[in-house]
This record gives sequence, C-alpha cells and structure tokens, in this order.
Amino acid sequence: MVEGRHEIAGVLAVLRRHPQVISIVGAAVRNGIPASLYVGKALPLLEAYGRRQRACGLACLGSAAWLSETLSAQGFLACEHIITYGWHAGPLPVTGNRAVTVEPVRHHELEAIAAIDRQIFAPVWHKPQDELEFALGRADYFVVAKYQEHIVGYCWSEWDGTRGHLTRLGVAEEWQGKGIGTRLLTEALVAMVRAGVTWVTLNTQLSNEPARRLYERYGFRNLGQAVPLLWKDLEKTSPSLDTSATFEVT
Ligand SMILES: CC(C)(COP(=O)(O)OP(=O)(O)OC[C@H]1O[C@@H](n2cnc3c(N)ncnc32)[C@H](O)[C@@H]1OP(=O)(O)O)[C@@H](O)C(=O)NCCC(=O)NCCS
Repeated sequence: MVEGRHEIAGVLAVLRRHPQVISIVGAAVRNGIPASLYVGKALPLLEAYGRRQRACGLACLGSAAWLSETLSAQGFLACEHIITYGWHAGPLPVTGNRAVTVEPVRHHELEAIAAIDRQIFAPVWHKPQDELEFALGRADYFVVAKYQEHIVGYCWSEWDGTRGHLTRLGVAEEWQGKGIGTRLLTEALVAMVRAGVTWVTLNTQLSNEPARRLYERYGFRNLGQAVPLLWKDLEKTSPSLDTSATFEVT
C-alpha cells in the first residue's frame, strides 16, 4: 500500500493454502496512517484477484483487533472461533490404540500426510505439502501413526525450553474413533514431558467437539481466548470491478 508516489504506508500479505481460499496472513500500516482507509482500499483489489483465481472466499484469523474491526466493516463475518487450551504437564502414561506404531515421519511420507490433512480439515485450515516440509525441518516432534505400514494419522509439536505447543493432530476419517488420536496425543505429551516441557498449549476450533473432548479428557483447559476466523464469501458479494494493480490516496 503506497502513499503518494513512494511512501510505503502498509502491507497486506496473503497466502493461498487451498485453491478456493485466500488467507490474509499479515497486515500492517505505518503508525499514524488510517488503517481502515488503506485496508479498505486494498481489499477490492484482493477480492478481484480472488475472483480471477476462482477462489470462493477470503479468510483472516482476527487476532489483531484493529484488523478485525476493519475487515468486519468491509463485510467479513466471524464463521468460526479458534480457542486455546493449556495443560500443566505432568507424568502420564501412553494410552490409546496399541495396534498402530508411532514413528518419526520420513520425507516421502509427507504426501500421504497432506492427503489426510485435505480429507479431515476444512480448506481454510489445510497445510499444503510445502508447509509440511517446513515443519519436518523445524518441528521438535513430528510423527506418523501406522497400521501395517499404512499411514493413518500424524502429529507434530514444537517446544522451547519449558513451553510446548501441539501444532497438529489428525487421524484419517475412516480410522477415527479407534483410539489413534489418543495414542498420538499421549505419545506427544510424554515426549514433551521428557524434553522438560511443563506447559503445553494447543489451538482448536470452538465447534470441534471430538477434539475438545479428547483434549479435556487429558486435562487440557480452555484458556478462554477465542479468536474469530473472519470470512468473506466471494461468490455472494457483488463483483468488484477495480482490477487495477495500484491505487492512489491523496
Ligand atoms: C480429533 C481427532 C484427532 C481424534 O482422533 P480419534 O482417533 O478419533 O480419537 P480417539 O479414537 O482416540 O478418541 C475419539 C473417540 O473414540 C473413542 N475411542 C477410543 N478408543 C476407541 C476404540 N478402540 N474403539 C472405539 N472408540 C474408541 C474415544 O472414547 C472417543 O470418544 P468420544 O469422542 O465420544 O469421547 C480426530 O477426530 C481428527 O483427526 N479430527 C479431524 C482433525 C482435527 O480436528 N484435529 C484436531 C484439532 S486441531
């Protein structure tokens, strides 16, 4: 977002994790710059881009109040909330399905993990293969659950000193309800406790009752923060005709 000819007034960064969803993953405006004015002017360009790309909507996790307010004023609606759970780590046994093996993920297995990810998460939450590759390089813990060499679930987490975060837990749809999520969760928590982690956090959707039941069963408590997932449906809004690449504010 450029003010006048040269001054950078702000930036709006988007990521296309799924062909149908354009996610706003970063937004900033310089101090003193009216955020709503600039974001409000940049959004029609983004909407036009989204329509050209045949995306069905724009998404943004509204963790910054100023951005949420601006997007809400532009027709974005909260379609889901992300909540945070916390767990004071303590000794616990590995439980759950013992017929599966849990082992570190290997690079050639990322494709199978991405396929499960697409199957079990809504498009807005997808982790494309390049993000999985990035995770493989930097996660402290990244495992798959296998039943007779067949990948049925995966889990990764990160920690820094005594604080850990369970980033992802997923079980292929046809394998759910068989204790595999429990196995993956308890294996990950035991690994974190061994590494010296004393406080574990994770995020999930407010509406995700199976996941919430699982976490609560193992002592996770909802920390009471709810971040809205803001969504603007591109199919239903009237098409924006402004397809120019730049605009000027005087
Ligand atoms: C959330 C999720 C990981 C749970 O995995 P799961 O393998 O289905 O979990 P479990 O089987 O261990 O436990 C789920 C249920 O099965 C039951 N169960 C456990 N072992 C079982 C067994 N051997 N046979 C039948 N049911 C069993 C549990 O009691 C539990 O019941 P409840 O939900 O009524 O309380 C899985 O549903 C999933 O991948 N969902 C989509 C992605 C997601 O939401 N991820 C987490 C949020 S980030």
